[in-house]
Amino acid sequence: MSRLCLLALVLAAVASSGCRGRTTAQAPIVPIRNMHDQQRFDPQSESSLFEDGRTMRVPVDGTVPRERELDPERAAGRLPDDSGYVLSIPDSVVKGAGGMPSLLDRGEDRYNVYCRPCHDGLGAGQGQVITRGQWNPAPPTFHQERIRQMPDGQLFATISNGVRMMPAYGPQIPLEDRWAIVGYVRALQLAQGE
Ligand code: HEC
Repeated sequence: MSRLCLLALVLAAVASSGCRGRTTAQAPIVPIRNMHDQQRFDPQSESSLFEDGRTMRVPVDGTVPRERELDPERAAGRLPDDSGYVLSIPDSVVKGAGGMPSLLDRGEDRYNVYCRPCHDGLGAGQGQVITRGQWNPAPPTFHQERIRQMPDGQLFATISNGVRMMPAYGPQIPLEDRWAIVGYVRALQLAQGE
């Protein structure tokens, strides 16, 4: 065996046994680094790998999230034949919340977080955001006839998609909570009714 070979063997033995069980502040010696230093790209940056030049890939056409609600009544407040809005909160939503009283409790809680800043605690449309001049125009009161007569599904769609100068809350508020808020808006209207 040549000397060089022997030296290599000794070095290999030292390298493989030398540091066991001890810690070091030094960077580890890694012969093949490409598993450690992987190429990364910043969001929105360019890439020559793809034809469209984008690093971020768009989902394949027709991709749907696993958890998407497919029932049009629950998901959009629309009748199954899409001829109009559902008139009342779907039974399955009420059941899922453990009954109407708990749905309304949840609705009150979420309304105070998401709607009260603009629509105020009674639904008159004079929340602090409005009275402090942060949002123009002011929302309408929930106690006008037009909004009283709105189907529940349309209230749900208003929260989900927004309307004119009101922002959409579909992306932030989970579906069940949007229905709970609808229930609470109805309760506010009843409480203020003649
Ligand atoms: C940033 C302020 C703001 C917040 C927060 C807000 N709204 Fe509104 N809302 C408005 C404004 C402004 C309008 C009037 C929109 C218009 O007609 O241009 C409006 C209108 C409405 C209407 C009447 C829609 C119509 O057809 O006339 C309903 C119902 C409503 N909001 C419900 C809600 C509910 C429920 C929430 C809570 C999830 C909410 N809003 C949160 C500002 C807000």
